[in-house]
Amino acid sequence: MKFLQVSDIHLGAPGEKINGCYPSERLRMCFEDIVSWHSDAEFCVITGDLTEFAEPAAYEFLKSIIKGFPIPCYLMLGNHDDRKVFQNIFDEYFQDENGYVQYSLKKENGVFLFLDTTKEGLNAHEGQLCNLRLKWLQNSLANAGDAPVYIFMHHPPFDIGVHYVDKIKLVEFEDFAETLKYGKNIKHIFFGHVHRMTSVFWRGIQFTSLPSLNHQIPIEPKSVGSEFCDEPPAYGVVNISSEQLTIHFNTFMQRNGLCQS
Ligand SMILES: [Fe+2]
Repeated sequence: MKFLQVSDIHLGAPGEKINGCYPSERLRMCFEDIVSWHSDAEFCVITGDLTEFAEPAAYEFLKSIIKGFPIPCYLMLGNHDDRKVFQNIFDEYFQDENGYVQYSLKKENGVFLFLDTTKEGLNAHEGQLCNLRLKWLQNSLANAGDAPVYIFMHHPPFDIGVHYVDKIKLVEFEDFAETLKYGKNIKHIFFGHVHRMTSVFWRGIQFTSLPSLNHQIPIEPKSVGSEFCDEPPAYGVVNISSEQLTIHFNTFMQRNGLCQS
């Protein structure tokens, strides 16, 4: 099976410039590329930071663009989102028994778990998995039994050596690691938040992240004299078979044919 990951789209109001780029335009370009070349994907997940300022107009724009997108699209929250504003606009969206935007999807190739790591409170940028959310994860892992499990989350539970994001990682990383022990067959964890392509092996599990669709975070801010940079955006093309997981990091805005002469 094939699915797609998009992350950190940081939408403002339609047409609004955010950190030097136009996120609504980039999302349109990304979805157009997906429709042209990967319309056979079973689903697309957006791993949080759907908006920059959690404005209703940004969520309304996202809702309208998804309506015209032919692939089922699963949405997740990040630290720039507001759960209440999101749930007002995406009313009756998936949620767990405590109102967090957490849900699971069962497919022939395994079980896909979508976590809500957004912390309660204004301007809280670090990640949170409270006991209620961890209990949901524990039950979901137990229910999956021996089936392959793939997890999506916005905040990573570890440092990646980039100060800007390391200081706002998942706070309850030890509790999360303990909860993962209830999973018998966790294959991979996909995350966002760090605005970079990274691959991390942590506590025996492989994780990968994607760049933002809008603005990236340099490994070394002094290299660009800024906390953000223009490294290319990408979406993930993920293929799963019984014996292999393949992830392509598709830098769709920098793909041009070359003259071979
Ligand atoms: Fe982000």
